[in-house]
Amino acid sequence: MSNAASATPLLAPYKMGKFDLSHRVVLAPLTRERSFGNVPQPHAVLYYQQRATKGGLLIAEATGVSDTAQGYKDTPGIWTKKQVEAWKPIVDGVHAKGGIFFCQIWHVGRVSNHAFQPNGQAPISSTDKPIKPATRADGIGLAKVSTPRRLETDEIPLVIDDFRVAARNAIEAGFDGVEIHGAHGYLIDQFLKDQVNDRTDKYGGSLENRCRFALEVVQAVADEIGADKVGIRLSPFASYSEASDSNPEALGLYMAQALNKLGILYCHMVEPRMVNIGEKLETPHSLRPMRDAFKGTFIVAGGYGRDDGDKAIADGYADLVAYGRLFLSNPDLPRRFEMDGPLNKYNRDTFYLSDPVIGYTDYPFLPSDV
Ligand SMILES: Cc1cc2nc3c(=O)[nH]c(=O)nc-3n(C[C@H](O)[C@H](O)[C@H](O)COP(=O)(O)O)c2cc1C
Repeated sequence: MSNAASATPLLAPYKMGKFDLSHRVVLAPLTRERSFGNVPQPHAVLYYQQRATKGGLLIAEATGVSDTAQGYKDTPGIWTKKQVEAWKPIVDGVHAKGGIFFCQIWHVGRVSNHAFQPNGQAPISSTDKPIKPATRADGIGLAKVSTPRRLETDEIPLVIDDFRVAARNAIEAGFDGVEIHGAHGYLIDQFLKDQVNDRTDKYGGSLENRCRFALEVVQAVADEIGADKVGIRLSPFASYSEASDSNPEALGLYMAQALNKLGILYCHMVEPRMVNIGEKLETPHSLRPMRDAFKGTFIVAGGYGRDDGDKAIADGYADLVAYGRLFLSNPDLPRRFEMDGPLNKYNRDTFYLSDPVIGYTDYPFLPSDV
């Protein structure tokens, strides 16, 4: 980007492994529920292309790894040939604009119900404890949930394998890498957090045991596609879908250190202030200990604007800042930050509409003469 970049830390270039990023403004993963029948749709080409910049990093919406991974209507998958083929033009569209595109691979675990599951079976989880109707990541809408079935120890490698195959499929679809969704109370988080995980096998109990599933997923994915193409998203401080931990700092730190041994590309952490969905709370907690411990690229997300994003970069608190709601409503967010331009407001009512345009690709760009 232009001269303004040097004065604006968010717009300074950054080398993330082998990827040359031209700025630090990342598209956070955003579920949009417009992938009818779990198949990505042609309207996603324009949506992602609008948000792509040369050398900008985009993380695709949470994408199911298998037919047991779904818990919301019309979220995309990446376990069938048809889904992989449907992703290709979307990835090509981002690449045509010079963007770098990672796929967030996801299993909801117990945040699901019979209707989403093959043969109407129970959703799978680390536990058989049900949750109350779950709130979405942005705090609106409730999902109906069913009592889950606790995975047997010998079934766990099969689920890990689903992540591995999904990662291979993502590369086949053309993605530059994958982000493993280990946040927000979904399957991996259901293993990580001591308020959910009540197992007595080697995947439960101690911190080391609770982190085993996440780390085995990371290892399997890294072995399949290369650690230089793997990131993970974690939210140790969050309590979405009743997934909280009694010592989130120890959990975040343990994961950061264990991930170093696997040599993955990035760790993407959600700010402690996002402990409650959709709201920014004052908190004494910080991601600083995890940032200092993790040796790869560190991405932060949660409630950021331009000024505190700049400060996070300038202070060395993060390498990159991911923006969710602001990028949803401002397709040209990096440019608006560069120009210190006005921002469009997001409209929650259209986050999850099925409409292929409204609330999706109709947010205006800054006029080109600004
Ligand atoms: C509409 C919507 C969909 C979301 N979908 C996902 C998702 O698929 N995966 C994920 O990890 N987080 C998801 N989130 C959380 C965002 O990635 C982000 O962490 C959150 O919005 C806080 O950042 P912000 O304050 O910049 O919006 C979603 C948030 C919103 C508003």
